Amino acid sequence: MISRQESFLKPVKIGLLGLGTVGQGVANILARNAAEIERRTGRPIQLVSAAVRNQGKAEALELGIHVTTDAASLVNDPEIDIVCEAMGGDDPALSLLHSAIENGKHVITANKALIAVHGNELIAAAQKKGVVVAYESSVAGGIPIIKALREGLAANRIQWLAGIINGTGNFILSEMAEKGRSFEDVLAEAQALGYAEADPEFDVEGIDAAHKLTIMASVAFGMPLQFNGVYTEGISKITRDDVEFAEELGYRIKHLGVAKRRDDGIEMRVHPTLIPSSRLLANVNGVMNAVLVQGDAVGPTLYYGPGAGSEPTGSSVVADIIDVVRAMDAKPAHRVPSLGFQNDALESHVILDTADYRSAYYLRLQALDQPGVMASVAAIFGELGISIEAILQKEPELPVDGDENPADVPVVPIILLTRRVREGLIEQAIERLQALSTITQTVVRLRVESLA
Ligand code: HSE
Repeated sequence: MISRQESFLKPVKIGLLGLGTVGQGVANILARNAAEIERRTGRPIQLVSAAVRNQGKAEALELGIHVTTDAASLVNDPEIDIVCEAMGGDDPALSLLHSAIENGKHVITANKALIAVHGNELIAAAQKKGVVVAYESSVAGGIPIIKALREGLAANRIQWLAGIINGTGNFILSEMAEKGRSFEDVLAEAQALGYAEADPEFDVEGIDAAHKLTIMASVAFGMPLQFNGVYTEGISKITRDDVEFAEELGYRIKHLGVAKRRDDGIEMRVHPTLIPSSRLLANVNGVMNAVLVQGDAVGPTLYYGPGAGSEPTGSSVVADIIDVVRAMDAKPAHRVPSLGFQNDALESHVILDTADYRSAYYLRLQALDQPGVMASVAAIFGELGISIEAILQKEPELPVDGDENPADVPVVPIILLTRRVREGLIEQAIERLQALSTITQTVVRLRVESLA
């Protein structure tokens, strides 16, 4: 039997799946900060091997570790105590993590898609084997948001959270708004910087943010992971016009993930959102992420930092390694539960349908510039009992080929801000607006959150 003293001195051995942007960040931090980390853990941590796709490329990094293309051999290696997954994707990451768990290894993953979609089964498997599944780096890159929700705010009943949780999307929106750059140009730069997902549609269509929101909502409210419950809308349809009109009205457009606990259920949604320019979140730019959390005891708290990138994400992976090392000798029942609530105390909640969301709305109509249009628009809102907060009518635009404007009358953009209303009612209003012969294009609808 190893004595306590010996167990403290014996190095903990790490195997890394993937040596891309995140994997290299982990390797660099473990090497550079080895002494500082050992002062925290009380025992050395050794990165011993990495499984990669391209052996030559990995060896050229000269990390002084064993490199293999045989990932199965790494998760089956009895020497390895902790497996860190930084390869991304579903397959083979999921089966490799299951094998690692089966072999009694603790697992750490930066893979938000994996946790959001398969986390319940991974956590159940880990519980059976008495090992830890850690995933801090899967949400908001370098921000310790899981730790904050699960431990720092553990006294609170969390009421809602709202965050900018996709660095690539925020980088694109910021550069479009501030420098007038094109969507494609900024996306290419985000890819070159290693921020973007392998499939950038995950970033721009909101899927990546939906994965992260799923994880935060479960940890905040103590419920099983439910990725299918997230309403998802991306930033690909945001135009420079909308960015400018929003600015004129005192708002910025940000891609937000919102999870809200209501008496009748939970709202989980990611979508572009107008937020007042004066809010801190409105001023989170570039690859930075931020999450605002409302707890019943503490009130609002805000967490800000880099949402992607090699060492920021590596920082969260290494923090997980340190946590796991500290908890390795503790009985499983004495460790922090994976989702922050005891596994048998997770509660299922009704996930609310979009029609039941409550929000204020920004609508942009393209209307023929002729008398009576404003009156017919106002009548629809009056009949449905929707209060208008502001109306902005812009300069007429010349007719555009291909729009539904047979008379070739100039078209005016009309922007309306509504008060808070049930989304089902706004959808009815949009349907009726769209049926007016004077409305020439699809009505643009964006949600507005005061974050008060
Ligand atoms: N593609 C992700 C982002 C990486 O841009 O936020 C970090 O999860």
